Amino acid sequence: MAESMSVPASVAPSTWQYLASRRLAHLATVDDRGRPHLVPVCYVVDGSAIYIPLDEKPKRVSPLRLRRVRNLIDHPDVAFLVDDYAEDWSRLAYVLVRGLADLLDPDDQRHRDVITLLREKYPQYEAMAIDRNPLIRIVPYASHVWSSAPGFFDWRQASLVRNLDFDAIIRGRRSVRAFRPDAVPPALIQRLLEAARWAPSPHGRMPWRFVVVTRPDLKLKLADAMGDEWERQLALDGEAPEIIARRKLRSRQRILEAPACIVLCLYLVDLDRYPDPVRQEAERTMAVQSLGAAAQNLLLAAYQLGLDAGWMCAPLFCSDTVRAALGLDSDLEPHALLTVGYAARDPVRRERLPLESLIVRFD
Ligand SMILES: Cc1cc2nc3c(=O)[nH]c(=O)nc-3n(C[C@H](O)[C@H](O)[C@H](O)COP(=O)(O)O)c2cc1C
Repeated sequence: MAESMSVPASVAPSTWQYLASRRLAHLATVDDRGRPHLVPVCYVVDGSAIYIPLDEKPKRVSPLRLRRVRNLIDHPDVAFLVDDYAEDWSRLAYVLVRGLADLLDPDDQRHRDVITLLREKYPQYEAMAIDRNPLIRIVPYASHVWSSAPGFFDWRQASLVRNLDFDAIIRGRRSVRAFRPDAVPPALIQRLLEAARWAPSPHGRMPWRFVVVTRPDLKLKLADAMGDEWERQLALDGEAPEIIARRKLRSRQRILEAPACIVLCLYLVDLDRYPDPVRQEAERTMAVQSLGAAAQNLLLAAYQLGLDAGWMCAPLFCSDTVRAALGLDSDLEPHALLTVGYAARDPVRRERLPLESLIVRFD
């Protein structure tokens, strides 16, 4: 069922959140003859107004001669639209704001603050002299929200979805190792698994299965069992007892504090069998490669949905223990434990080697 409601005199907090989380809007103005003018715009919001920069791209006219500016000086009544489109039509949404627009002068103190907000949201503006031009300011007097997803605008998730382009999602994803206690809605976990399901796999046989653990008692059982096994292994390595205790505690906390744990298991039952070990090993390697692809699909989907995730390789080193703790069949090989939730803080980003040093040959 679609959700639609009008907010006559203001913009609801969840609607401001939605506007703040999106990056592109469309601004409609009207000229003296009633002809509409529509342009895509970048913007920021501050909970009481919407601000749109007039950038210094080479334009034939000075910013004040732009049609949108001339229109709003004569007719301050404007419409401002932000929307979500997806091929899955159960995920459509838009916010339409009506408001009165004016120009915020560069001498105004607020102008400087808004320029900072704009540059934080769009780093591209760092290199542009937007601070010399006035800003368009829209003070809303009405807003209308609509979504095909029931509860979308009450759902905290709506504002968290990172509606970024593909490149920004790839670069934005990062390993998160500390989470807030907020639960992850099961519908979102389903969407992560759905993303993983579309990973490439050898012969299309999908040699992986998912185990989702959210129940605190089950996480505790898993964390305790894995911790004991790791303690045993670290002692074999000759690690000092205090280091063992610290590492065991940290790993245990990571599992207990993650709202959801997804154990990716290798599942080889449907793969080809070969009489020689070389080809058999290659077949297995392909399955492991495919599990990595499924994991990456899942991690990118999590980031796009406003979730954060981390990767723990520990199950690989204690697969019997994980199987026993979770009651899994022997044909499931636990390989990775992906912790999923909402980041407690933004982690430091791991740098990458320059691309040239990774390309061995390109001719
Ligand atoms: C196969 C694999 C195993 C990993 N195992 C762990 C792990 O056990 N613990 C951990 O904190 N991070 C683990 N990571 C995450 C990496 O440390 C992380 O991806 C890498 O440092 C790059 O940082 P980024 O993910 O923030 O970009 C693993 C990653 C991969 C691909």
